[in-house]
Amino acid sequence: MRVIISEEKLKERVRELGREISADFRGKDPIIVSILRGGFIFTADLVRFLNFPHEIDFISVSSYGGATSSSGVVRLLRDLTTNVQGRHLLLVDDIIDTGLTINYLAENLRLRSPASLTIVALLEKRIKREIDLPTKYVGFRIPDTFVVGYGLDFNQKYRHLPFIGELDGIEAESTGGNKGVESS
Ligand code: IMP
Ligand code: MG
Repeated sequence: MRVIISEEKLKERVRELGREISADFRGKDPIIVSILRGGFIFTADLVRFLNFPHEIDFISVSSYGGATSSSGVVRLLRDLTTNVQGRHLLLVDDIIDTGLTINYLAENLRLRSPASLTIVALLEKRIKREIDLPTKYVGFRIPDTFVVGYGLDFNQKYRHLPFIGELDGIEAESTGGNKGVESS
């Protein structure tokens, strides 16, 4: 495991994002839509840097694909419990790779006529983007490598790590690169 973003760097950047979002969304009473499972730690840290009233809800999707790549086939596992019509939404995700997962969710939520929909992603991979998304807030742009920690998993493990790390080939291989697993 190689640390690529330390705990300190994460905290510093999440605090900055919190400040920016607070300046932009104060008075709009937005709903923070946290995407499970990967977005749970980022969301929990981010909202503690928001200094204005907002609501939080959760949505859970699974991308069906290989263990380390997305196929674009997305299934809604748990829906929001809030009526979002006419509300400002901040969609909080862990990482955007191809953009297929977040695009599916954004399309799904747009059908519910929110006042606005803004994407917040902790990480964004620079290449392999299949969809051009207007991502408003991005924590870090990273190279196209598989990362874990701070909510992100490999085969449901490593989400608890307080940093973003890169699994090396041997670790990834020994856990088995299951084809056809679903991960959320
Ligand atoms: P996309 O649909 O290709 O944008 O994939 C997005 C989803 O795939 C993320 O929400 C993650 O769940 C997962 N994912 C993509 N890249 C990584 C990674 O490097 N580590 C862990 N999960 C990842
Ligand atoms: Mg995810």
